[in-house]
Amino acid sequence: MEIQRLNDLQTLVSLSKRRGFVFQSSEIYGGLTSCWDYGPLGAQFKWNVKQAWWRAMTRRPDIVGLDAAILMHPKVWEASGHVEGFTDPLVDCKNCKNRFREDTALVNGKVICPKCESSDVTEARNFNLMFKTHMGPLESEGSVVYLRPETAQGIFVNFENVATSMRRKVPFGIAQIGKSFRNEITPGNFTFRTREFEQMEMQYFVKPGTDEEWFNTWKQLRWDFYKTLGLSEEKLRYEEHGPDELAHYAKAAFDVQYEFPMGWQELEGVHNRSDFDLSQHQKFSSKKLEYFDPATNEKYIPYVIETAVGCDRLALALLCDAYREEITHKDGKKDVRVVMGFKPELAPIKAAVLPLSKKPDLQELSHKIYSDLSEGIDVEYDEAQSIGKRYRRQDEIGTPLCLTVDFDSLEDKKVTVRHRDAMTQDRVKMENIKSYIQDKLKNFDQ
Ligand code: GAP
Repeated sequence: MEIQRLNDLQTLVSLSKRRGFVFQSSEIYGGLTSCWDYGPLGAQFKWNVKQAWWRAMTRRPDIVGLDAAILMHPKVWEASGHVEGFTDPLVDCKNCKNRFREDTALVNGKVICPKCESSDVTEARNFNLMFKTHMGPLESEGSVVYLRPETAQGIFVNFENVATSMRRKVPFGIAQIGKSFRNEITPGNFTFRTREFEQMEMQYFVKPGTDEEWFNTWKQLRWDFYKTLGLSEEKLRYEEHGPDELAHYAKAAFDVQYEFPMGWQELEGVHNRSDFDLSQHQKFSSKKLEYFDPATNEKYIPYVIETAVGCDRLALALLCDAYREEITHKDGKKDVRVVMGFKPELAPIKAAVLPLSKKPDLQELSHKIYSDLSEGIDVEYDEAQSIGKRYRRQDEIGTPLCLTVDFDSLEDKKVTVRHRDAMTQDRVKMENIKSYIQDKLKNFDQ
């Protein structure tokens, strides 16, 4: 059997639409560029991704969660440096009117339009990526607020609240999942770079001087996390930012990169933000954000090690990684089985209940199995089309197990369990089916 992995994003875009993972936003109106809606399976899948991240973070005794508002006091973005410095250099091509980022179009030091290859382009203008809106009915300068471009600032401004209310001692971390917005000049590659996206960020507050050690610890922990999610190790790598590439707040930074079909790209950033953010907020708010260490009687502004990943981007990496085509030839005919080989933890549906036919007694028994299992397991009931087509659909949405209820089931009270990857089948007693599924999902052999 030949295995073909995903080599173009368009194949995944089609599968996502066909099977209900991701749809173009506002499609009936012609779509809205770079905005995507998660369909029923995509929403469940993304939820599973978030849960895996949330668990990995907040099940540690030293990390607590937070859910801050998207709209924040405008001074936050002055303090953070975003009003001044969160810009991209925007260039227009005079020949074809294409608009692009200067830094992505440099060839031998010259700016070349990526679309028509003309060098007749405008001077770069700095374009702020924050979305501006107005709070209240008056659109005056005084009512300007921004849609947050990162979730991190909600954590910094709540540092004192969390430390006090949760009686936390440094080192400790705050984790948050939420929407962020950036008016990107060149969004694209499906859900990879969009203007509205979800981030999963964790800020870990440490004593100055211990920051480099914690930075290395978090680099390793994040790598381990991606391995537990099942991402192929050969498609993961670390890239260190050079001094010219560091963000305005960062003392050191590493990207975890994944090899997407369009090449190696950033998945997550691990940053040493020093005491930049808390110092800035202390200065701009005039509120003391120093930490008093009761063990040593010292006062200091903690350093921050940040881990920041886009939820949509991680979901995309996992979708790309899970995709495989199994190609076989029989009697001169080519057969392609498409499988999304998710780890069971991430699969939107864990098991499908499939009556062999629509005969009422099979339906009744299948409904009963479905309702027993659906307490505690994400199961789906499907009786449309032939059993072969239904298996193929479940393979394409990554369902680890299919339960077929056939005429023998009425007599022997057993169902056939088909395994997604090996396609082997077991006959299992109905009374044991729940524990059988739970056991197989836990000890899944891919
Ligand atoms: N608080 C630090 C911060 O936001 P970042 O490297 O700008 O750092 C972190 O963003 C992660 O958020 C990125 O690694 C990426 O996964 C995700 N991300 C950033 N911009 C994005 C966009 N326009 N669309 C989708 N995901 C994005």
